[in-house]
Amino acid sequence: MSGRLVLLPGDGIGPEVVKSACCVLEHINSLGRGYTTEEDLVGGAAYEAHGVPLHADTLARAKQADAVLLGAVGGPQWESLPFDKRPERGLLALRKELDLFANLRPAIVFDALAGASTLKPEVVKGLDILIVRELTGGIYFGEPRGVDKDAQGRIGRNTLVYHEDEIRRVVRLAFDMARLRNKRVCSVDKANVLECTELWRDVTNEVHKDYQDVALTHMYVDNAAMQLVRAPAQFDVMVTTNMFGDILSDEASMLTGSLGMLPSASLGASAEDVGKSRPGLYEPVHGSAPDIAGMDKANPLATILSLALLLRYSFHDEGAARAIEQSVERCLAEGYRCADIDEGTGACLGTQAMGEKVAGYLETFWT
Ligand code: IPM
Ligand code: MG
Repeated sequence: MSGRLVLLPGDGIGPEVVKSACCVLEHINSLGRGYTTEEDLVGGAAYEAHGVPLHADTLARAKQADAVLLGAVGGPQWESLPFDKRPERGLLALRKELDLFANLRPAIVFDALAGASTLKPEVVKGLDILIVRELTGGIYFGEPRGVDKDAQGRIGRNTLVYHEDEIRRVVRLAFDMARLRNKRVCSVDKANVLECTELWRDVTNEVHKDYQDVALTHMYVDNAAMQLVRAPAQFDVMVTTNMFGDILSDEASMLTGSLGMLPSASLGASAEDVGKSRPGLYEPVHGSAPDIAGMDKANPLATILSLALLLRYSFHDEGAARAIEQSVERCLAEGYRCADIDEGTGACLGTQAMGEKVAGYLETFWT
């Protein structure tokens, strides 16, 4: 198994966590795989070098790759830039240009971390939720947008807009994913207030006709936010709009103990067809954490688990993906922690040491 990865470490802790994941990838190569990497800039780092958060050459390079692994973007020094120059725009452009309409955010509670969540262990133990977030539409991209003025003063405007085809493709993918799991989909909307999400609900019901073996429920987003902390085990796959998914996935991350544990995969095709058409983009859900950047304190596990998703979806290398996930589980079971999930169970490791620790277990789980 082989393939070409583009690494976009980005800003803040991005470079450290990507480097740590690369250590894992090097070990995978030493076990007989042939994955190559090239590195490029995105976000604030790209702005500093080129004056734009995503250079056209970087985009072209990403398009030609088999998969992209991204760290994080953003930082306080770029917050006052005009909107189109901000680091976040680089990430959004990448998602849009690669047409990565489905963002998979699995929230899995490792047994060893059941006590690390701020919720009671009995509420989160064994939890395994997959949030499927629409990623290239909705209020993030809708027009008209912007701030302008009228006679009374300034007006800010964003538009929530979905074409039925955009809803259909992401909902379909959610149903496909549910078939590989516990066959339950909860579609999250605000159909009691927002017409656009009333359409979301209608289209979801239509798609469901092709998936009668999967149980479908609908939930308003405010209730879903509450249910996620009240009784999260009721969920299997949740599918929702871009902004609701952004918010709910941060919330779900806290069930797992830390935002530093949540990986993500952004796909532009059904799971079977990823890699055949366009590359997938893989990134930790956490941000650039500028306050701890460069200190070797960041938890690299979300990025390492994103690498596992990359190998699974873009290269169908289930063997390597499972080996990474089991190695992470073993590290945690042995008591190794990073500062964000440290409960005094054992050694608290830095970013690079955690990567090496995970890499060291790979052979044990290699099949
Ligand atoms: C995420 C982030 C991004 C988003 C930001 C950095 C643009 O919060 O991936 O969840 O809102 O999508
Ligand atoms: Mg977010």
